[in-house]
Amino acid sequence: MKAPSNIAFLKYWGKLPPSGDDLDRNLATNASLSMTLKNAVTETTVDAASSDRDELWINGTQANPNDIAKISKHLDRVHAYFDRPRRACRVVSANNFPAGAGIASSASAFAALTLAAAEHLIGGPGTREWVSSTTADVSALARRGSGSACRSVAGPYMKWDGRHATTIPSPWKLHDTILIVSAAHKGVPSSEGHKTAETSPLFETRLTRLPARLAAMEAALAAQDLGRLGPLLETEALEMHAVARTGVPPANYLLPETLRLVEALQSLSQRNFFFTIDAGPNLHVLSEKPVRADLEKILDRTRVSARIWDDETGAGPSSF
Ligand code: DP6
Repeated sequence: MKAPSNIAFLKYWGKLPPSGDDLDRNLATNASLSMTLKNAVTETTVDAASSDRDELWINGTQANPNDIAKISKHLDRVHAYFDRPRRACRVVSANNFPAGAGIASSASAFAALTLAAAEHLIGGPGTREWVSSTTADVSALARRGSGSACRSVAGPYMKWDGRHATTIPSPWKLHDTILIVSAAHKGVPSSEGHKTAETSPLFETRLTRLPARLAAMEAALAAQDLGRLGPLLETEALEMHAVARTGVPPANYLLPETLRLVEALQSLSQRNFFFTIDAGPNLHVLSEKPVRADLEKILDRTRVSARIWDDETGAGPSSF
């Protein structure tokens, strides 16, 4: 099963306190909006394990006990959902994009794992039927593995109200050119950032402002108006990072190189591309036309070296 990553236009940053019930896991304090990516995917297969323990291989390497525990928990959920006896599984997973590249791997990973586990339990045609008839359930299951995964089960755009995620159909195609200034793993995992978000003095103010921003983004999306969407994307990204940086303890994801690029982009008098930044130092640049050449010039001028990943609007999971 292949599932894509997604890039958040409006960010999920903060979780509701856990109620102790796994069904309520990863409920967000705010609604979010994302674009499903096309090229950045996780491909996962689930088969019966040869022993009585779950096994996990990620990008050809045997995973550590922590990661195995996370996927075991998720396999428990999928087995319980389909009411099947829990047998040990062998999970083989690979991302086609560099780890730590600011491309959400937990989103594509848990979406792909949910689908691959379903395929293992009910077979390919059954999975196809399940996915097309109950996107809401697929999404809710994936969310319990990682919040943002609930927005990776379909495309082209998805809105997550904090509990349920739904598809926003649109013919609008955008490019997402990702400037990978560092592929090192982030110091503060996003699951930790979510916990400290509410300690920021900016958090409550952010929550009051988000409904209007979401409505404005949805209107810009419906109108296919990047001139309106772009500035909203940038304000939103910088605000999420302001919350992260003012939490206790602070979560600093932005590197000096990130800030140099932000400044260079925002000081252009005219442009048709706009950035957003997830919980990492890398910029996602959204545009209607390819802008790789323009961005290479900016990298040159700012003396920032970055690897570039070209992506675009995608339709959702495939190969089942
Ligand atoms: C900045 O989904 O990775 O990418 O639910 O703890 O797994 P967990 O967090 P995760 O958080 C993603 C945060 C974000 C914004 C977003 O994707 O909306």
